[in-house]
Amino acid sequence: MQYIIFQIFLNYNFFHNLENLGINMSYVEKIDLNNLINFSKTNSYLSIVEREIPRLSNSFFENLITEPLNISGKIFKNKSLKSIKHILNKNIPDNYKKHSFYNHWVKDMSNISNIFCNIIDSDSISFSLSSSRGCRRYHIDNVPMRLLVTYYGDGTEWLPPNATNYDAYYNGKNNENIVKIDTEKKFIDTWDIAIFRGGEKGILHRTPDRALHSPTLQMRLDYSSFLNDVERYNNINL
Ligand SMILES: [Fe+2]
Repeated sequence: MQYIIFQIFLNYNFFHNLENLGINMSYVEKIDLNNLINFSKTNSYLSIVEREIPRLSNSFFENLITEPLNISGKIFKNKSLKSIKHILNKNIPDNYKKHSFYNHWVKDMSNISNIFCNIIDSDSISFSLSSSRGCRRYHIDNVPMRLLVTYYGDGTEWLPPNATNYDAYYNGKNNENIVKIDTEKKFIDTWDIAIFRGGEKGILHRTPDRALHSPTLQMRLDYSSFLNDVERYNNINL
């Protein structure tokens, strides 16, 4: 499987200075998956690792997601495979666990969880897996960092800063006002790994229209405290 990472470095002021000059300010860099660990040391607000969709993926998830799946739990770095299997255990029918693709998928989530633990330098993280996504409005997550992988269905839609009206976003305007350049909308592909950095200058993103109404399955990784503090995050867009 080939991994390519795009890193978009965004300096808000620098960006707007360039924008005023009519220059596209996005800087895209391709690096190896192994360098994803360095995300925490960069100024990137969004990194995307491109991956191919495994051959059996769509047929496996098409059947699995006939019933809603919304589960979460804590993943421990040194026991990530065991942690994920434990979380999935009661929610995945036994016949799916016997499928050869199941182990491939669980190992993938385990490997990515370990990478995220290393990025945030933590022995544990919060893990969520959901078949329902409903973030219609463009938003910035109110978390320091978040990793997303859409295993089935359309991945996250996002806006490059040059196509974003941040003032419209912070003034509570709707999507039509937030999008400055409609043709600049971007979409993260299925199975790609995306890490968003939060904060005022973060990348605006949303659930794409098709994923609002079609079957989907997305993994979300957050800091360990996220699930414990979920009450505190009740008012944020997930
Ligand atoms: Fe989000």
